[in-house]
Amino acid sequence: MADDTLVEIERRPITAAARILAGGPVALVTSSDRGRMNVAPVVWHTPLSSTPALVGIALERSRHSAEMISHAEEFALNFPARALLHHVQYLGAMSGSRIDKIEATQWETFEAIEVDAPLLTGCIAWVECKVQQVVPVGDHLLFVGVVVSVQVLPHAFDERWLLKDADVRPLHFLGERYYSVLEGVMEARAPGNSDAPERVLADRLVEELELSHDAQERRAELLGELAHDVALGNVIDVSQVGMGPGPLWVPPPGLALPHVSEGERER
Ligand SMILES: Cc1cc2nc3c(=O)[nH]c(=O)nc-3n(C[C@H](O)[C@H](O)[C@H](O)COP(=O)(O)O)c2cc1C
Repeated sequence: MADDTLVEIERRPITAAARILAGGPVALVTSSDRGRMNVAPVVWHTPLSSTPALVGIALERSRHSAEMISHAEEFALNFPARALLHHVQYLGAMSGSRIDKIEATQWETFEAIEVDAPLLTGCIAWVECKVQQVVPVGDHLLFVGVVVSVQVLPHAFDERWLLKDADVRPLHFLGERYYSVLEGVMEARAPGNSDAPERVLADRLVEELELSHDAQERRAELLGELAHDVALGNVIDVSQVGMGPGPLWVPPPGLALPHVSEGERER
């Protein structure tokens, strides 16, 4: 496949690799140790094995969560959706060594099935883990966890993220203060055994390019119509063009939006 983008390639510092790999769902890691609970966002996490089911989270050694999980030998991953965007950023700017973040955010929790770490209400999936090993990796510690329980909201996740309802899509972290959500599900159609792969793939590439071109045109048209309505003073629904907050999210009882202070280094 000829590629015009080759002429636009630019070099970036090696630290950019982490941001390029980033994009998995944001998880809030909760822990409970010696009577104290803590929560911190993590995006350096990965599945590591299917049987047994193992996942890894990389925590910088200085994190209070790293200390708590090292001692408690268990943790839970809570997956927030977009309504909790600002909570996530706040939790990543504060250390549990200085404040009780669950108390500060008045976040309601519920009991996990297999671990003592609390589970956070308002999230859309929860994974509980027992620490199998801790591997030092550079300035981080990789906590390898055996998955002992998984719970989901079935309208958010069935055998995969469903992405139907905008309110229950996982959050993805792009770096600094920037996040995104996945837009929708696409089904890939690989060439069959009897197809000439190069020809079939070239046709499908053209189809996809045409589809994305059409979609862009439709969106531009819609934006034009909305701009016209705004000029006339009409009420508009920005969710039509995938820009708005979508239907109003009702926070779980007792969940107050905390005051955000820029404290710690941002990932
Ligand atoms: C979206 C987001 C993702 C983050 N991912 C990680 C991570 O994977 N590993 C890590 O060590 N710190 C990560 N951080 C930074 C920690 O969450 C942050 O330092 C937090 O204050 C640690 O809290 P603790 O000291 O109570 O454990 C992330 C921060 C944000 C906002």
